Amino acid sequence: MKRILICGSNGLLGQRLALLLSRETKFEVLNTSHHRSFVFDSQLFDYTQLDITRKSDAKSLISSFQPDVIFNAAAATNVDWCESHRDEAWKVNVVGVENLIEAARKVGARLIHVSTDYVFDGKHGPYKEDDPPNPISYYGKTKLAGENAIRISGIPYAIVRTIVVYGNIIGKRENFALWVINKLRSGQAIRCAEDQISSPTYVGDLACAMIRIFELERTGMYHICGAEQLSRYEFAVRIAGIFNLDSSLIQQVKTSELNQPAPRPPVTGFSTTKAEEELGWKPMDATRGLTLLKEELQTARKN
Ligand SMILES: NC(=O)c1ccc[n+]([C@@H]2O[C@H](COP(=O)([O-])OP(=O)(O)OC[C@H]3O[C@@H](n4cnc5c(N)ncnc54)[C@H](OP(=O)(O)O)[C@@H]3O)[C@@H](O)[C@H]2O)c1
Repeated sequence: MKRILICGSNGLLGQRLALLLSRETKFEVLNTSHHRSFVFDSQLFDYTQLDITRKSDAKSLISSFQPDVIFNAAAATNVDWCESHRDEAWKVNVVGVENLIEAARKVGARLIHVSTDYVFDGKHGPYKEDDPPNPISYYGKTKLAGENAIRISGIPYAIVRTIVVYGNIIGKRENFALWVINKLRSGQAIRCAEDQISSPTYVGDLACAMIRIFELERTGMYHICGAEQLSRYEFAVRIAGIFNLDSSLIQQVKTSELNQPAPRPPVTGFSTTKAEEELGWKPMDATRGLTLLKEELQTARKN
């Protein structure tokens, strides 16, 4: 039976990987995250706390569990927070990754790691896997440094870059889609950039692509994102449409009006041809992803 270690199981992507992988009886899954407790019922899922920045903890947990693969969904992901908390951001997104590399090497585990479109400057999107990165935010710089540490490590790896991930999440964390839904439901106006264009990605679609990479034993870099290039404003309007919310509350603004502390790459999006050809995976459009999110939220409300 293959042993799978998930890091960052309390996060948006980590929760989805935990749900999808733990229900497979052919895998033994150990979930880990920074927080002492797990968002899911610990009777149903194996969970232990792991701070990936603590080298000796990572080493001893990985030595004792002996995973075949490590899915790393742990990261400092708040782009603006990273801009002003540089040492902490580096510690998680670079040192944490280096700790996982070292521990993985000792037990011969494969690392499947997640990165971002923010490694690009956004001048020439959509991007292919081999386009040269040029991050403009500190978050992007840390994520690129994490990628580079893996690329030169010599361990078997896959890096999955993705974009504006949305989906249901247990706990207080929000993502762009949930933020839009919550604000519009409570009748509040929101301002969304018309000049930040990218390809929002449904979390279930991303997790499925990562599981394909694992099952097909693929290595190297993969770009995984939604099928459409949309501005934040257009995405918010699409969300309002699917959730029957008042789109007149969405104001179309320029990024410069938002005073966001970290610079954003203006136009990203990915070419997903490599993933489509090698994984037999097809990117989902935003209407389909949002419809699935709506169903999930309805089910969650009933339970
Ligand atoms: N969300 C997006 O729009 C987006 C876009 C592009 C790329 N990505 C990448 O996708 C990956 C997953 O993102 P996400 O949206 O799922 O993030 P998320 O919801 O913010 O979750 C990140 C998780 O990392 C955990 N974590 C933070 N510091 C840790 C540490 N020192 N040790 C162990 N765990 C730690 C947190 O643990 P606790 O909750 O237990 O504290 C949290 O559960 C990240 O690599 C991110 O850079 C995300």
